[in-house]
Amino acid sequence: MAIKTFRLRLTLMYTVVVVLIFFASDFVIQVQFKNKRYESVDRELLREATTEFSQEIDPTRIKNNEEIIKRVGDEYYQIINRRGEVRISSLNNNYLWPVNRDLLVKAFNGGPQFDTVSYKGENYRVLYMALNEDNILSIGDSLKDVEEEVAALSRLSLIFFPFILAITSVMSWFLAGRALSPMVQIKSLAEQIRHGRLDRRIDVGVKGKEIDDLVKIFNEMLDGIQNSMEAQKRFTSDVSHEIRSPLTSLRGSIEVALRKKRATEEYEELLRNNLSDIIRLSRIADDLLFLAKADNNILELKKHWFDVNQLLKNIIERVRYDGLSIVEKYEENLEVYGDSSILEQAFTNLINNAIKYIHRGGTVTITTEKEDDSIKVTISDSGIGIPEDEIPHIFERFYRVDKERSRKMGGTGLGLAITQWIVNAHRGQILVKSTIGSGSDFIVILPKTQD
Ligand SMILES: Nc1ncnc2c1ncn2[C@@H]1O[C@H](COP(=O)(O)OP(=O)(O)O)[C@@H](O)[C@H]1O
Ligand SMILES: [Mg+2]
Repeated sequence: MAIKTFRLRLTLMYTVVVVLIFFASDFVIQVQFKNKRYESVDRELLREATTEFSQEIDPTRIKNNEEIIKRVGDEYYQIINRRGEVRISSLNNNYLWPVNRDLLVKAFNGGPQFDTVSYKGENYRVLYMALNEDNILSIGDSLKDVEEEVAALSRLSLIFFPFILAITSVMSWFLAGRALSPMVQIKSLAEQIRHGRLDRRIDVGVKGKEIDDLVKIFNEMLDGIQNSMEAQKRFTSDVSHEIRSPLTSLRGSIEVALRKKRATEEYEELLRNNLSDIIRLSRIADDLLFLAKADNNILELKKHWFDVNQLLKNIIERVRYDGLSIVEKYEENLEVYGDSSILEQAFTNLINNAIKYIHRGGTVTITTEKEDDSIKVTISDSGIGIPEDEIPHIFERFYRVDKERSRKMGGTGLGLAITQWIVNAHRGQILVKSTIGSGSDFIVILPKTQD
């Protein structure tokens, strides 16, 4: 069965880890305890061997020795000679300790030796110690007590285990819940957003860096979505508004004209007025179509090398600028790799703006320059300028500083949005410098390289 919730999975993981740690430390404790107890048994054996036996036992006089042994108590002992034969045994010679030959040799050559032996299902710790050149004293003590203590200790940890398990799983469940609470919050927020509450944000800065980073990205993403949704809404309502006003004026003037019979001149006048509305509508339609294609990435750039100066000269020949002067300052040989027809549209927009937002007798200056690996085209005018706080907005669709003036000049408010898209599509940049009352500079920087 797959474990569905992450919380349960985390809980199980924590619990398994704690249980493993519990068993590992329990094992270490038991081994340590057992070793310590063995050491103390060994010390006791050694103490008895050296203090109780060694001075008094005389291996040559057996009877005498037996008495000493009875006096000393209930430890098991025997005296073994070099050949490994048991000379005296505490169990009335009924039983002989198994003799460990290796330890016997070692005990003769070095110091006392210890061994663990098993007899009739019981374990004993045994000490081999040389009494003299010929005899080894071997005494033993039962390990029954030690083993019982070790068993009691492990029983104790078995009794504790269910409690540890219960506490660990409850704590883990709780901790996992805490660790996941930001997720739960994000989830409920995402749900609210799904139901239209795009203004909702999660608090940042309290849940630890990883979560905070995630929350920050999430919030930024929401900002982005909210902005583009709002822009979309604004755009839709702007479009309907922009289209409705020329349509209303067309409809109104036609309705008035049809109320009675009129002279030919009147119809002509009417049609001329209608034509300007229709031109306006078709301009909006063209610009919107361009932007729609741009938005949907279906505008294909047909790039080739061309001369920027020539392109600008062609535009200036075509545009109408009565009562103004245009100054051209070209640096020679400015070739750019791009879609010339679409860039022509961008520069036409900029030059038309310069001409539109200028006073009579003003000057538009067009400059081209070579930079390191780019080309800079500056279109500056001695016109009305743009208020500083409006500059960031003029590239927005339908944004106009002065709606009436723009409309009178036949503007749609889409020109700069289109221009910016074109320049960006060429990996270029467009900058604006403007002083209200004295004019504006629109600077287009295009990379010279072929992609
Ligand atoms: N050279 C300029 N001088 C002053 N204002 C300008 C200039 N170019 C653009 N603007 C401002 O930016 C607005 C947006 O420009 P644009 O997108 O081309 O729309 P429009 O159709 O109105 O020309 C204009 O309405 C105008 O207010
Ligand atoms: Mg324009």
